[in-house]
Amino acid sequence: MPNVAVIGAQWGDEGKGKVVDWLASRADIVVRFQGGHNAGHTLVVGNQTYKLSLLPSGLVRGKLGIIGNGVVVDPWALLAEIARVQSQGLRVPPDMLRVADNAILILPLHGALDRAREAARGDARIGTTGRGIGPAYEDKVGRRAIRACDLAEPETLSAKLDELLLHHNTLLRGLGAETFEKQALLDSLLEIAPKILPYVEPVWERLDAARRDGRRILFEGAQAAMLDVDHGTYPFVTSSNTVAATAASGSGMGPSAVGFVLGIAKAYTTRVGSGPFPSELHDETGRQLGERGHEFGTVTGRPRRCGWFDAAMVRQAVKVGGIQGLALTKLDVLDGLDQLQICTGYTIAGARFAHLPAAPGAQAAALPIYETIDGWRDSTRGARSWADLPAQAIKYVRRIEELVEAPVTLLSTSPERDDTIMVRDPFQG
Ligand code: GDP
Ligand code: IMO
Ligand code: MG
Repeated sequence: MPNVAVIGAQWGDEGKGKVVDWLASRADIVVRFQGGHNAGHTLVVGNQTYKLSLLPSGLVRGKLGIIGNGVVVDPWALLAEIARVQSQGLRVPPDMLRVADNAILILPLHGALDRAREAARGDARIGTTGRGIGPAYEDKVGRRAIRACDLAEPETLSAKLDELLLHHNTLLRGLGAETFEKQALLDSLLEIAPKILPYVEPVWERLDAARRDGRRILFEGAQAAMLDVDHGTYPFVTSSNTVAATAASGSGMGPSAVGFVLGIAKAYTTRVGSGPFPSELHDETGRQLGERGHEFGTVTGRPRRCGWFDAAMVRQAVKVGGIQGLALTKLDVLDGLDQLQICTGYTIAGARFAHLPAAPGAQAAALPIYETIDGWRDSTRGARSWADLPAQAIKYVRRIEELVEAPVTLLSTSPERDDTIMVRDPFQG
């Protein structure tokens, strides 16, 4: 019985949370392995809506959640999120949530630097979530980050803060932003330590034991392949590797533990923040997709940019992400459109390209090559079997399968948990 890794195949917000929640009924443990509270995963269960940023989505099903070492954890955001979901009736005691002792902590200075840099970039801004994700990952590879385990060692914390503040205050001052004072930071970390430490452990040991016991692990990706720091539309990306390989290194397991790689894609495309988007629609159809799909960022509330399904981009995500099956979501949002376009490749300065080249100038200049396909009149919303789908909607799905070179293993037809069509159980490999 393999494990399953769920990753985004576009620019995020594909519906990973809904799919992870749905699959979690078949899993024993749900693991977050990268990203941080830049993620926003929405789960709709009956009349409750859960918006999760750091907490693994399996908690809603009462499944053990693990925050792996690859995640950057803002401890204040974590506690606030735990309090929020508890007020919705979920339980998150330390035996339901384990946080890697070697996970990196996001401090207030990371958010301050993120926002100061974005302000300095002006029109060239990336459109980050402003939550300090990039600066925290920089500190990790710069070997000066504070990790969850450091909360248990006040002397270590104190010494690390000296180094961290030397670095950050220099940058903040240069950007004309407010600097941070050591004692206040140390006090607030020491104040929060007893609330966080009960969750902290070497999660790799637990995961190793779970694997040997044959327990099913579901890896929950955040962001998406085209926001991957290596494979995405750099520099308009997030600061972590989002592809499935990271599920192993970001949780402390070997690559064979990752199992079946399920890529999630919307039946159209959206993007939040800046950066190239060849199939973006600036017209009435784009506005309609945004309205019908409720395309507003979960984290920042920003309207998402909308466009046609970009099969060339998803095909690239399939290849670099090792995606073995696709979950196609939000098919219902396309109901009633007369005709649909699918982007199958690009032209750049008159030359044809099957995939987006890496150079930012070329990416910005890429024009979509479209294939037109008829739409469908009948509703797909809430469909739970192929038999409930109009023939033309099935044709659209089949064409996407061909173009992206991966089978559709799940279809989602509304935000609601059970409005899902399973073609093949990812846990069966
Ligand atoms: P994630 O970041 O990949 O987990 O996705 P988000 O939760 O940020 O955004 C996806 C949005 O689409 C959420 O509001 C979901 O409730 C909603 N959603 C998920 N699947 C479907 C679907 O099949 N149809 C519709 N209409 N909405 C969906
Ligand atoms: P989920 O998990 C969509 C985008 C930001 C910005 C870029 C860098 O909900 O799919 P960052 O704060 O990470 O440094 O911002 O990445 N971004 C997302 N877009 N969904 C997300 O997460 C995102 N997380 C980051 O908008 O363009
Ligand atoms: Mg999201």
